[in-house]
Amino acid sequence: MNIAIFASGNGSNFENIVREQREAEDSSLGDVKLLVVDQVDAYVIKRAKQLDIPYVVFDIALFKTKQAYEKAVAIMLTAYEIDLIVLAGYMRLIGSDLLTAYPQRILNIHPAYLPAFPGKQGVKDAFDAQVSETGVTVHIVDEGMDSGPILDQKKVNILPTDTLETLETRIHQVERELYPQVIRAYIQKIKE
Ligand code: GRF
Repeated sequence: MNIAIFASGNGSNFENIVREQREAEDSSLGDVKLLVVDQVDAYVIKRAKQLDIPYVVFDIALFKTKQAYEKAVAIMLTAYEIDLIVLAGYMRLIGSDLLTAYPQRILNIHPAYLPAFPGKQGVKDAFDAQVSETGVTVHIVDEGMDSGPILDQKKVNILPTDTLETLETRIHQVERELYPQVIRAYIQKIKE
């Protein structure tokens, strides 16, 4: 199962998935063949270089339309024979062309217990709302914002002593556990 990871920034999930894959004794976590980045200065590019994973940077500003941008991305995905797209901090909605090309084959991780707190600031929104718990969700991507079918999710308590930073750290720890597990289970399901 050939995987392309899409990312826009830091890339800790990207690195974690690649490392877990390399540690796995079998191919159950697939094979990350390509990193797609939409920000020229994203830190995730450094990680890809260190890990020796091929990457492409597509600057959407250089394309006339989002459709043209996604068409270029799709050509690259075809060239790398990608079967599954894994979004990991990719800060852009997926358009209809990619969704059609990869039906039920695009996964996303969101740092909140969906449907609560969708959007770009899931951790901060939950923290600011002063709720007692939030979480992490992995879902299939559809045309909406963090709205596709949920594959799995895990709760994270918000402690009275938490700052936004400590909460973010715990959420990221949960992400690093949950995402590889869900990807592995999803690949298994596809293969059945
Ligand atoms: C994660 O919190 C993920 O849930 C969200 O964006 C963040 C990406 O972190 N979609 P990283 O780039 O993988 O470190």
